[in-house]
Formats: sequence, structure tokens, C-alpha cells
Amino acid sequence: GIQLGKFLSTTDYTTFDPGFVNTASTKSAITYIDGDAGILRYRGYPIDQLAKKSTFMEVSYLLIYGELPTATELEEFTNKIRRHTLLHEDLKRFFDGFPRNAHPMPVLSSAINALSAYYQDSLDPYDDAQVELSTIRLLAKVPTIAAYAYKKSVGQPFLYPDNSLNLVENFLRMTFGFPAEPYDMDPEFVQALDMLLILHADHEQNCSTSTVRLVGSSDANLFTSVSGGINALWGPLHGGANQAVLEMLEKIQADGGDVDSFIKKVKNKEDGVKLMGFGHRVYRNYDPRAAIVKEAAHGILEKLGGNDELLDIARALEERALTDDYFVERKLYPNVDFYTGVIYRAMGFPTRMFTVLFAMGRLPGWIAHWRELHNEPVKIGRPRQIYTGYTERAYTDLSGR
Ligand code: ACO
Repeated sequence: GIQLGKFLSTTDYTTFDPGFVNTASTKSAITYIDGDAGILRYRGYPIDQLAKKSTFMEVSYLLIYGELPTATELEEFTNKIRRHTLLHEDLKRFFDGFPRNAHPMPVLSSAINALSAYYQDSLDPYDDAQVELSTIRLLAKVPTIAAYAYKKSVGQPFLYPDNSLNLVENFLRMTFGFPAEPYDMDPEFVQALDMLLILHADHEQNCSTSTVRLVGSSDANLFTSVSGGINALWGPLHGGANQAVLEMLEKIQADGGDVDSFIKKVKNKEDGVKLMGFGHRVYRNYDPRAAIVKEAAHGILEKLGGNDELLDIARALEERALTDDYFVERKLYPNVDFYTGVIYRAMGFPTRMFTVLFAMGRLPGWIAHWRELHNEPVKIGRPRQIYTGYTERAYTDLSGR
């Protein structure tokens, strides 16, 4: 191939690739996807093995440090995180400033951005100890912030973290528990959520991760970079799709469960209606994460007593779509978000919390990418453009316009 820089100046040629369909923005050793074959691996480990055998804590360690932890490393990592779950008391008051009906995503991203104001001793991207401290702080505090965003939305009191619990248990207790009352932990519920977090933990250069890297490329600190990623995740074409899928299923249910006419609307592109939770930039085959969630959904719903009717509608939509030319020709398959919503709902989460759960899962991936970015001398991200505006024009005075 051509050695750029040897034969060509980078300013001589500009590649035009809207949406970065074919442009690699970086090298990375974290996650491998083969979209045609439907393969996803974290640090070489297939996603189905990690989902079945691992834990979210282990996977977080794997993504961030590159290897599965030994028992001692895992214990040290987990203990460090336990010591950082509290939020500064002043930061807790931050939540009072939001309206009660605020969507929890901007609350989450604002509070995470605010961490860079409260924890100024861990902002230097070139100080290894500070990077490590901000990593642990983020992993520990995001579940607390996420639970408080929920508590704020339902007008209930905040709970302090209970550090005898693991990260997922702690999050569930702070979300659904009440101060000074015991919270009954259902181990199957904990395990199901843990598995869903594993499935969301990384997905190479998606929109939010690319945002984290781009913000980080200006040497912005980890908290602020992750906050940027959370805002990117909120959009319905990305992480916001899990909320959009459930709203779509509920609407189809309310309209009498007519799957065929919904599919027809999608195919005719009526009012821009899409089959949410379908399609993916990289997967032109079944998203391996969606296959795992689909398999788990029925069992989880049976145990948690969820609404099987929405799952039935989702299954009918999938069946219908996978045999329809529109979807077949465009290679549109269910993505990770298609079946997660019905599970989150059965767990008792309001629809607006779904994307927050995605953010909790994606956090170790964002951190791993931000850290990987700084493993080499950072080149600031600065895309070029094709200018389509006016050529030079002379200024006209206000009186002459
Ligand atoms: N429903 C109906 N048609 C679709 C869908 C869908 N969900 N997704 C893609 N298409 C159609 C497009 O309209 C386009 O058709 P055309 O050739 O007639 O114009 C064709 O398939 C190609 O789609 P693009 O939008 O060009 O594909 P792109 O790679 O840019 O977009 C995306 C991928 C954003 C995920 C898209 O498939 C989509 O909007 N899906 C629904 C939202 C969703 O589920 N997002 C979650 C993605 S996974 C994640 O972030 C966790």
C-alpha cells in the first residue's frame, strides 16, 4: 500500500466519508467485531463465553487492563471500587437543581461531568496514579449517581451505598431500596443484570466511544470525556434505542398488536417510522449480543413475572422482518437493544432508565478506550470537511441589505 507521509502530504488529499463508514479513526487492541460473521470478542474472548461464565467486574478489569484478573487482582480491584462508592455531600445536592420529571440521562452526564470539579486531584491524563484513581472513582460512583438519578425522578430519599454488597447489588439496593429498611436481593435478578452489563461493556468505535476518544484527544480529563460519551449514547439511533424499542412495542400493543401493519409502515417509510432495535452499522448478520439476550429473555421474564405479551410482539416482529425482502436485502437484524427493554421492564425499571443501564454497562469500555488513547502520543482528533458554502463576497452595509 501507499505509505502516507512518504509519498503524499496529508493535506494534499481529503477523504470524504460521511458517518465514517469506511474510515478507521484509530488502531485498537480492545474489541474485535466481524460484522458479517456476527462475531464479537473482548480482548480475544468470545462474548458468549464471557456472558455465560464471567462477571461484570471481571469483564471491566479485562477491558481496562487487558487480561482476565487473578483471584487476588480481582479482589484488590473490587475492594478499591468499594472504597469509592460515596458521592461528595455537596455533589448530592446537585440533583436538587433538576426538575423531578427530568430524563435521567442528562442528570447522569451532568453529575459525571461535575466529578471533574469535585475530584481535581485525578484529572491529569499523563499521571498514571491519577488516571488509576479517576478510573476507580468512575467505576464506583456511576452506579451511585445512576441510582440517585432514579430516586430523584420518583421523589424518594437517597440511600448511602452499602459496601458489603457488590457493585450490581449495591446499585439495585440504592435504586429500589429504602433507607433503614432491608432490601431483599434476588440472586437471579442480580445475575441477569450483571450479564446484560457484560453484553454492553464495549463495542469498539461506536458513536459514544468515538466521542469519548475525540474529547479525550484534546487531553480533556477522563470524567469530562465520559460525560461527552453519555450524551452521544442518549440519541435514539444509539443507546437511546432501548427506550425507543419498548415505546414502539407498547404502541403496537395499544393499537391492538397488529405487527403486519407496523412492518408495512416501516417498509413504506411512513413518517420515518423505523423498526427500532433493528439494523447496525457493523453487523450485517445477527448481533451476537441480541441472540444471547433473546435466549435469556424468556427465562428471566418467567422468573420475574414480566409482561410476556411485549416479548411476544417483539418475537413476532423479528419473525416477520427476517422473512421480508425489505429487511433481508438491507441485512437488517435485531441489535442488542431489541430484547433488553422487555427484561429491564420486568426488573421494574421505568423506560427512561434503560439508557442509563446501557451507560453503566458501557463505562468500562469508554474508560479502556480513553486509557488506550493515552498509551501513545495523542494526536488531537480534527476531521476535515468539504466546504460547500459561498466563495468570497464583499461585505454589504446594513443599510444596503
Ligand atoms: N428500520 C427500517 N429501516 C432501516 C432500519 C430500521 N431499523 N435500519 C436501517 N434501515 C434502512 C435504512 O432506511 C436504509 O434504507 P435505504 O437503503 O432504503 O435508504 C438502509 O436500511 C441502510 O440503513 P442506514 O441508515 O444507511 O444504516 P446505518 O448503518 O447508517 O445506520 C442504524 C445504522 C443507525 C443503527 C440504523 O440501522 C437504525 O436507525 N436502526 C434503528 C435504531 C437502533 O436500533 N439503533 C441502535 C443501534 S445499536 C446500538 O447503538 C446499541
